[in-house]
Amino acid sequence: MTDLLQPKAIGQDHARRDGPSKVSGTAPYANEAPVDNPAYCHLIQADVARGRVTATDAAEAEATPGVLAVLTPRNVERLASTEDKELAVLQTDEVAFRGQIVGLVIAETPEVARQAAGLVSFTYAEQPHDVTLSADRDDLYKPDTVNPSFATDTSTGDVDAAMQAADVTVTQTYSTAMYHNNPMEPHATTALWNDGDLVLWDSTQGVHSVRSTVAKVLGLAKEQVRVICPYVGGGFGSKGMPHAHVIAAAMGARALPGRAVKLALTRQQMFSLVGYRTPTIQRVRLAAAKDGRLSAIALDVVEQTSRIKEFAEQTAVAARMMYAAAHRATSHRLAALDVPVPSWMRAPGECPGMFGPEVAMDELAERLGIDPVELRIRNEPERDPESGNPFSSRNLVTCLRDGAERFGWADRDPRPGARRDGGWLVGTGVASSVYPASRMPKSDATVRFEDGRYVAEIGAADLGTGTWTTLALIAADALGVPADEVDVRIGDTEQPFASVAGGSSGTSTWGTAIVEAARAFRDKFGQDPQDGDEAQGQVPEYRASERYALYAFGAQFAEVRVHADTGEIRVPRLAGVFAAGRVVNPRTARSQLIGGMTMGMSMALHENSVLDPATGHVVNHDFAEYHIATCADAANIEAYWVDEHDPHVNPMGSKGIGEIGIVGTAAAIANAAYHATGVRVRDLPVTLDKLL
Ligand code: MOS
Repeated sequence: MTDLLQPKAIGQDHARRDGPSKVSGTAPYANEAPVDNPAYCHLIQADVARGRVTATDAAEAEATPGVLAVLTPRNVERLASTEDKELAVLQTDEVAFRGQIVGLVIAETPEVARQAAGLVSFTYAEQPHDVTLSADRDDLYKPDTVNPSFATDTSTGDVDAAMQAADVTVTQTYSTAMYHNNPMEPHATTALWNDGDLVLWDSTQGVHSVRSTVAKVLGLAKEQVRVICPYVGGGFGSKGMPHAHVIAAAMGARALPGRAVKLALTRQQMFSLVGYRTPTIQRVRLAAAKDGRLSAIALDVVEQTSRIKEFAEQTAVAARMMYAAAHRATSHRLAALDVPVPSWMRAPGECPGMFGPEVAMDELAERLGIDPVELRIRNEPERDPESGNPFSSRNLVTCLRDGAERFGWADRDPRPGARRDGGWLVGTGVASSVYPASRMPKSDATVRFEDGRYVAEIGAADLGTGTWTTLALIAADALGVPADEVDVRIGDTEQPFASVAGGSSGTSTWGTAIVEAARAFRDKFGQDPQDGDEAQGQVPEYRASERYALYAFGAQFAEVRVHADTGEIRVPRLAGVFAAGRVVNPRTARSQLIGGMTMGMSMALHENSVLDPATGHVVNHDFAEYHIATCADAANIEAYWVDEHDPHVNPMGSKGIGEIGIVGTAAAIANAAYHATGVRVRDLPVTLDKLL
């Protein structure tokens, strides 16, 4: 498809259409589902990391006034499918991680439910557990594929020989921490059964994927499950698939047919039940000639998964395609531990996987005496090193050059630890970023003319990303009408099928379906439609990914200040320049990009889930102790983009922007911290104790 939409609405700043209802508190979130007389569910979690429940005493909880039901493995329904062990709620006495759901209480009020949950007592036969990841474990294994279906290992040429022959090499081990997604809106589900059919108001990145997963687990036809989610207070991947609490809410509500049951996770419960980013240990090897040209890149990753369900993050995939090097190798090895199930977190794979290599590039630049921006430019490949295909568009060099100019990189003194401003050591750092420009194979849309207005319908999601607004702009341009003549309806399985909001593929995929529907509408009804006219569209077959390497690129620049006496770390400036196709709505795009960079800064300096080996418990499981960057940290974060229209990705010429902002940021900050202090921190987060 090479017929880019002529932009009129696309590319102009548009305010969020959902903004007023969100800031006035009238946008209904999942826990505010419009139901009468709901009951409330509170989950009970295992407080051992491994073992078996041998006895349960629910008598006191059941006798508590206001309690409607207590469910444990002893009295619960059998699920139709227990294949997905994360979702097989209460189907076994076995405890596979601390925090696993072992029971639930339903009561007239949330307070009674929570109180009674604490009154159910469990006796455990505890077994020794193991939650400690290390690269020298003897039980590391090789998964069949990595998320979602990449080859686990790759090898081209001979990295060892290239390392031997090179003028300069870097061999280092880097690590990223365990991180938990903390969207502002905690996960919540309201469930209501009527005559054997189920309605779920669920905080999710994809109503249609929740529907199909829940239907399978509960043994229902898809048509028997309706999922509604017009608004989401953030997801970042943790709402990309239903987790155990969604099934728990449905099971709990089944005990009270005709009455809705509300289940909202507490912030602390989110640290065991909705996924997290695996810690990674990354061994990086780089080999280069004196002129900076790489001959070899290798990245070997060790990460963790749970014993009950494998999630293998594709941490090494970006290293396969980022730079020109004839000899390349990557691998992924996993330890299956007694831990909760890891999952997606903003740019799973690329985000942690660009940390080690992009810090290693900084180390190589220093050894070679070559500027780190220039080193990256010298290793620009002509084609995708991995597939051999041309890039549909690749403007990394433009991002690096443009960013260097905006940031004032030209007069940078490369010596580490050489600049002081009062009591502060000052440094700057750079890193590249990349994210696939994906489009999902399936999504459908309807365009209708109704009460004199156009309505575009698709069961898509707006996680706070701007979907409500951007899809209207895309529909308006495809219809050739002003944006304010178009309404959008999303977030309900009654609407046409939409792929999940994941992998930065949403706007690309859903927008394509909407363009198809709008064109079909114009073909059928011309320029003067009547009320009730309606046309469908679907994402057409797409073969561009066989012929082209499809990616967005970016470059991040950071200034870091470290106080010479206290080690206090500040990031007064952070700038990213991105080449991500046509930008649909600059206002919401900027928000996505600076949001991604802020989350990257948070990863660099603050976030770190501390897993206690003695208990298997994330001890800092709340906002008091799991630190996230706040407004005070985000002093001056700017996002820019280069003019890029990619005709191969979709009819809009746009690439996804939800995730690329976070990729590279942590490396740019760690590199700047080194430049400021002369201390190379290879293990995130960069905290003051590591710099002093
Ligand atoms: Mo994103 S982690 O693909 O929701």
